[in-house]
Amino acid sequence: MEKIRTPFYLYDMELLAESVSEMVRLSAQYGISAHYAVKANAEDRILRYIASKGLGADCVSGNEVLTALASGFPPEKIVFAGVGKTDEEIETAVGNGIFSMNCESLPEIEVIDGIAGRMGKKAGIMVRINPNIDAHTHKYITTGLEENKFGVSEHEFDALIELLGRCRWIDFKGLHFHIGSQILDVHDVFSLECRRACEIVSYFEERGLKVENIDLGGGLGIDYHDPDGHPVPDFGLWVRTIAEGMGKCGDRRISIEPGRSLVGQCGSLITRVLYVKHGVDKTFLITDAGMNDLIRPALYGAYHKVENISAEARNVKEYKKYDVVGPVCESSDVWGEGRELPETERGDLLAIRSAGAYGQVMASRYNLRTLAGTYYMDELN
Ligand code: LLP
Repeated sequence: MEKIRTPFYLYDMELLAESVSEMVRLSAQYGISAHYAVKANAEDRILRYIASKGLGADCVSGNEVLTALASGFPPEKIVFAGVGKTDEEIETAVGNGIFSMNCESLPEIEVIDGIAGRMGKKAGIMVRINPNIDAHTHKYITTGLEENKFGVSEHEFDALIELLGRCRWIDFKGLHFHIGSQILDVHDVFSLECRRACEIVSYFEERGLKVENIDLGGGLGIDYHDPDGHPVPDFGLWVRTIAEGMGKCGDRRISIEPGRSLVGQCGSLITRVLYVKHGVDKTFLITDAGMNDLIRPALYGAYHKVENISAEARNVKEYKKYDVVGPVCESSDVWGEGRELPETERGDLLAIRSAGAYGQVMASRYNLRTLAGTYYMDELN
């Protein structure tokens, strides 16, 4: 590891296998199918592994749909959400016969109907509903409140039923919900989501629209503070809560869309300390990874645990407080303030933990920096 050019993402496929097998076991037990949210991490080996274990894919762009297909996800297990699908992306979805486009507005359904008609091929859709629920999470990653841009809100339900009645090229499959991400209040928030989903399903069915599939989205949170204490999140609590909640809603096909919970703990960003800089009251560790490599702390104020893996190997006993910062020309390029770490030297390797989800996929070349590479633990031994 010492010789690899830093920074780089390091993935633990054994942990991914544990998470996926737990998800597969529980979803089989409760009769719920899982579509992996590709947006969380789209590395080739990760996608191929998840596809090989029989999960479906939840995509949010035409390129994600094409990548999912190339990685081995069958079209009948692919769903495609997103508020702004282009005509080209809709053609990709219809042309490849994916299970469903999860539609987010009435005008989008009309456009899909027109395109599918021109292509002479029916388009499977689910309609994403905005259930107006507070997911008790960061405001940038809550998506189920009425003032969010996502999904169709209650005031449009009657117009939606009328529209679906006249779209000849639409194959209506059901309803889609996704209320937010990094949800830790699992039982309360997902029970509420199920209650709202059941009420909304009854509203549609009383008006003659059969709802066969209900997709409840993703959102299960992970433990950023103690990644080794909770490497595999409590999928059981999530899946049981959903099975119980939807049990009251008749016999239907239920699916979920885990992203972060499957891949989040499987990845770390490995970075080297370039300088130990002594300020007036603080000591800074300046790393060669920056917010362009992992934007979550700068964008959401997100916490990621930082570990000094070289000092662990040196068996350093003395701890000090450091502000760990990146090299990018922005004051928000900070990994953590006042972090207690073993006494650190120039050249030490740090691991920024829980970076497997929304890490590498959100990287940019800001400051024209080189993108971090990808390595897997089993390749390093
Ligand atoms: N389904 C839909 C429709 C979604 O929009 C998302 C995530 C998921 C599933 C997967 O959610 P998960 O299980 O990963 O919570 N960049 C942010 C997270 C954005 C989430 C966007 N949607 C972050 O770094 O926290």
